[in-house]
Order: sequence, then C-alpha cells, then structure tokens
Amino acid sequence: MRDYIQFYLNGKKQKVSGEKISSTLSDYLRYQKGLRGTKVVCAEGDCGACTVMVGDSDEKSYRSINSCIAMMALMDGKHIVTIEGLSQDGEPHEIQKAMVDNNGAQCGYCTPGFVMSLTDLYEQKTSVTEKNCRNFLTGNLCRCTGYGSIIDAALSVDPKKAKSLGALYSGLSIEKNTDAIEIKTPNFEFYCPASLKDAVELKKKYPDMRIISSATDLGVQINKDRFEPHRLIFLDKVPETHLLEVNENEVKIGARVHLSLIEKAYEGIEDEFSNFLNLFASPQIKNFGTLIGNVANASPIGDTLPFLSVMNAKVILVSTKGEREVLFKDFYLGYKKLDMLPEEMILSITIPRRSKNEILKLYKVSRRKDLDISCVNAAMKMTVTNGKIDSFAVAYGGVGPTVLRLPVLEKKMIGLDFDADNFRAQSHEIKNEITPMSDVRGSSEYRHLVAKNLFQRFFLEASKEVSL
Ligand SMILES: Cc1cc2nc3c(=O)[nH]c(=O)nc-3n(C[C@H](O)[C@H](O)[C@H](O)COP(=O)(O)OP(=O)(O)OC[C@H]3O[C@@H](n4cnc5c(N)ncnc54)[C@H](O)[C@@H]3O)c2cc1C
Ligand code: FES
Ligand code: FES
Repeated sequence: MRDYIQFYLNGKKQKVSGEKISSTLSDYLRYQKGLRGTKVVCAEGDCGACTVMVGDSDEKSYRSINSCIAMMALMDGKHIVTIEGLSQDGEPHEIQKAMVDNNGAQCGYCTPGFVMSLTDLYEQKTSVTEKNCRNFLTGNLCRCTGYGSIIDAALSVDPKKAKSLGALYSGLSIEKNTDAIEIKTPNFEFYCPASLKDAVELKKKYPDMRIISSATDLGVQINKDRFEPHRLIFLDKVPETHLLEVNENEVKIGARVHLSLIEKAYEGIEDEFSNFLNLFASPQIKNFGTLIGNVANASPIGDTLPFLSVMNAKVILVSTKGEREVLFKDFYLGYKKLDMLPEEMILSITIPRRSKNEILKLYKVSRRKDLDISCVNAAMKMTVTNGKIDSFAVAYGGVGPTVLRLPVLEKKMIGLDFDADNFRAQSHEIKNEITPMSDVRGSSEYRHLVAKNLFQRFFLEASKEVSL
C-alpha cells in the first residue's frame, strides 16, 4: 500500500503525496514544476490551451488530454509529456518548427496546446489529411491566428522526421504500478484499490464515497466550485474495469475504458455509433473520459444514452453482494437519479450488437457541429418485413429529466406500413411522451419541433435501407 502517487514527467520520475494530489495536473505543472508552457484559459476542457500528452504501460501509446480538469491523483503510473518535453537538447520538435515556419501563432497563448494536439495526430499514426488535422484540433481554440496557417503547419510536417514520443523517450519503460494507493489528509481521502474485492469493501465502508473516473465531468464541477471532493475512489487498478470485449452478439465495456478506444472498437462493426462518437466532445476529452462516466453522470443530454437505450444495453453493478444487472432503459429513475444503491458502483456495460435487418440512426442537434452540448439527441432502431414495421425503438435526450423511451409510440408503430403518411401521423404523437424545458440551448417549443423533425428524418434516411 502506497501513500503517494508516482509517475514520469518529461522522462523524469516523480512522487507526489498529501494534499497536492487533489490539485489539477495543470496547476501542478505550472506552479509546482514551473512548466508554464502549459497554459490555462477556460479551466473547463473547452479550449485546449492546457493540452499535454499522457502515456501508460497498458496502452503503450500516448494520447492528448486536458490537464486543467485532470486531477493529479489520476496520474499514477503515467508518463506526462508537456510542451517543454517535446524539444530535445534545445532542438525544437518538427511540429514546433512547422508552427514557426508557417506563422502558426500570434499571441501564442493557444500555441502549446495546438502543438500537443498535433503531436497526438502524429502519435496515432493517422494519415495526415486536412480533415484529420481539423478533427484532431476540435478541442483547440485560437482567437488570433486563425486556423489556416495552423493547418498549413500541420500538413507541412514530414512524418518521417517527426519523432514519436516513444522514440524521444526510448530509454524509458513505464512500469505497471499494480499496488493499491491510500492517501489521507485532514480534508481529502483518496483510495485506489488494487482488486475488485477491495474496491467493493471500501464502497461498503464509505457509501458516500464518490467514484472518480477520468474527471471530465467531475473536474469541471470541481473547478467551478460545484463539487468539493472529500473522499474519492478510483478504479483504475481494478483489472475488470479495463474489459473491452467484442464478440458476435455483444460488446462488453468496463468502467475505465475511455471513449477513444470505444470509438475505435466500433469502427467497422457499428459505424453509426463510431461516426456519432466523432461528434462527441474533442479528442482530449475522449482520450480520457469514459462511457461509464457518461452513463453515471446521468445528464439528460448525455450523448451516448439514446444509443444505449435503444440497443437494450445492460448495466452491470457490483457490490460486496456480487453483481446485479439492470436494463439500461430502467436505470434512470428521474433527474440524475439512478437505480444504484450507495454501496454499488458500475463495473461495466454490455451492449447487444445489431442484427443485419435492424436499421439504426443516431442524431445530435447542437448549435455548433463540434465540441458542443446537445440540445436534443436521439436514437431510432427498426425492422421492417414485407413493408410492415415489426419492431421499433426510439429514445430522445434533452426532452425530459432523463433520456426517454417512448413506449406508447413504439407500440403504435408496430404493424404499420412503412410509409411517409404513417411517420407523419405518428410524429404528432411524440409530444404526448416528452416534457422538454426551455433553457439557453433551446426553447421547449423548439425541442418539440426538433424531436418531431428527427422522427421524419429517420423515415427519409431509413427509406434508403428498407427493402420493401
Ligand atoms: C469540454 C467537454 C466536452 C464534453 N462533451 C460532451 C459531449 O459532447 N457529449 C456528452 O455526452 N458529454 C460531454 N462531456 C461530458 C463528459 O466528458 C462525459 O460525460 C464523460 O463521459 C464523463 O466520463 P468521465 O470518465 O470523465 O467521468 P467522471 O467525470 O470521472 O465522472 C462522472 C460521474 O460518473 C460517476 N462515476 C464514474 N464512474 C463510475 C462508476 N464506475 N460507477 C458509478 N459512478 C461512476 C462519478 O461519480 C460522476 O458522478 C464533455 C465534457 C467536457 C469537459
Ligand atoms: S484551459 Fe481550456 S481546456 Fe484546459
Ligand atoms: S495565437 Fe492567440 S489565441 Fe491563438
């Protein structure tokens, strides 16, 4: 049992203990280590100025994350590389050189974040096209330079010359830290158990203890003083939480699997979902944030929830009494109210795979296409045989206190002819099962209209796939 965390920072081993583990990674870098190349602008994961690269022994690769919302406590066993760690012997990295050569910075405040996100692009060995550059820069804002010259810089890098972080730190092998951590200070306790048995016992002992996953939700709440952490448990060393299994019938995803891995796992087996995840947040958020965090956060506009609902996913809860399975559609009891006891936690989720004759469409409607919170999101799944609808599932987010299935409408759709008149007629019924409110993202009337229009859009899109 350790009472400190240990990790590497730009190739050098570090130990941190006590209250310091509750600070953000960006504060640690800037104020404890004097690495002020990492900037903080928004402190809520939106602008990318704080982007750093993080590697660990499991993934054997590095990914970008937002250090402003990542708590230090979550860094055990990682190798953190900051903008200062990219250059070697005073020689800038090829990406840094390209930014200079292409006039990729004016005030320069955003620049380290851009360089780190482009490092991620090269690190993932993605083909360097303009589209991919734009995708990898979704989480980075520049207010002065404009994106043209930054993208020119990205495209001008010679991939053969751009050293990977593995090559830059070739002598370093990040050892796997499997031992448990317990850090107690007068104001803050942090537990990182090494087995599921220890994790459930701890949760039984302290039922009010909050589970922290990657803190892409919790970190924002902490920074904005909406949540003060006193006692946290982190399940990263529980092997079962890293499960990611794809078989013919279902996909099983553990609590600690981040969204970028899930996006990749679904590529080719369910492109509707992997393409949809492309619209979820930014690479920095998905490289760290988890699907289970999205589920447990229980936001009515959580983007993965409509998909999980129509796919009839099962949430696997665990406690000292063993495992308990809850159907996803029954998991939410009201606004942020879950069918989960205080001593329970989510271990994993099982998502059935779609059969070939099922048509699935996922929708996200937000003010901006990228890095925006949904106003309304939706998922619809259907089968049609000989021109008649024989199964129908629809779930909406952003139109009630939680993600909603529409059981009355679903029932009415079954047995109807698959035609425009029926979809138009039934779209008028949606209003009876949703209760959207008005807020900054859209009025109740607007949300009613969007829900109705998405339903009709589904008909138009499904028409191309239905064989009558
Ligand atoms: C800039 C930005 C953009 C975002 N964009 C989107 C978006 O496009 N769509 C969207 O839906 N969300 C978005 N989010 C929200 C967030 O990234 C997601 O909800 C993410 O999936 C949360 O995962 P996490 O691992 O970081 O959870 P955490 O923040 O660690 O935890 C979230 C909640 O889940 C609970 N929890 C975590 N693990 C467990 C467990 N095993 N058992 C029980 N409870 C648990 C925690 O106690 C907490 O209440 C965005 C956030 C930011 C900062
Ligand atoms: S400071 Fe804006 S994303 Fe971290
Ligand atoms: S150079 Fe000023 S914000 Fe990008």
